[in-house]
Amino acid sequence: MIEFKNVTKTYHSASRGRPVAALTDINLKIDDGETVFFVGPSGAGKTTMMRLITRMETPTSGSLKVNGTDLRRIRPRKIPEFRSQFGVEFQDCKLFPKYNVYENVAFAMRVLGMPNRIIKERVPRVLTAMGILHRAKHFPDQLSGGEKQRAALARALVNNPKILIADEPTAGLDPKMSKNVLDLLVSLGNSQKHKRTVIIITHEQALASEYGKRLIRFENGKIAEDTGRAEK
Ligand SMILES: Nc1ncnc2c1ncn2[C@@H]1O[C@H](COP(=O)(O)OP(=O)(O)OP(=O)(O)O)[C@@H](O)[C@H]1O
Ligand SMILES: [Mg+2]
Repeated sequence: MIEFKNVTKTYHSASRGRPVAALTDINLKIDDGETVFFVGPSGAGKTTMMRLITRMETPTSGSLKVNGTDLRRIRPRKIPEFRSQFGVEFQDCKLFPKYNVYENVAFAMRVLGMPNRIIKERVPRVLTAMGILHRAKHFPDQLSGGEKQRAALARALVNNPKILIADEPTAGLDPKMSKNVLDLLVSLGNSQKHKRTVIIITHEQALASEYGKRLIRFENGKIAEDTGRAEK
């Protein structure tokens, strides 16, 4: 369970003087196994939500708990273990340009110290599931937009995370490919086997609302709409 209570996040940047209120007084609960869309205009605070949940940032005030861990109290040496439950597809740093697809995905396993034997077995499996095994030896600049997004998703998924967060996974894709990628993400959340929480951050509100999942709309650092837990 992810639980925000009266969370405010203000960024203080030394160079630009005035503090920026990215999120104000957020109250939100997301249950294990839920699939949730975060939508809303640019600058609304969506990526900041992701950065708070994964403890890349800490709240300025309020309380935030993720699976029982109080993120304002967590000890620094416990943070790597805490992060290992997440798979994140980042908005602006998707793939390493100098690695091929296989190595991009394998990297996420190597940083956790996984043995090569398991990497060799698991990377092809996740590339197959994403439909890009035939691109394993290609470099990012040799891929189509959709293939890049799916390779980045493969990397986020390869460690079988309890919580998957995709930040703008349809950026730069045409409508058909956007739908394919969202279908794929929603199907990952629907998998009965894993009971995985999936958070999809997207500008594409109309497309997102077609899935009948919970949709949370951010505006100006606040929750402007929350359709609530989807019917099971
Ligand atoms: N590191 C930072 N330092 C200062 N201000 C920041 C920082 N990161 C984000 N902001 C500001 O916080 C607000 C929310 O940003 P955030 O990235 O969460 O928005 P977003 O909803 O993800 O937007 P987009 O849809 O464009 O990705 C914006 O006003 C942004 O300029
Ligand atoms: Mg963003």
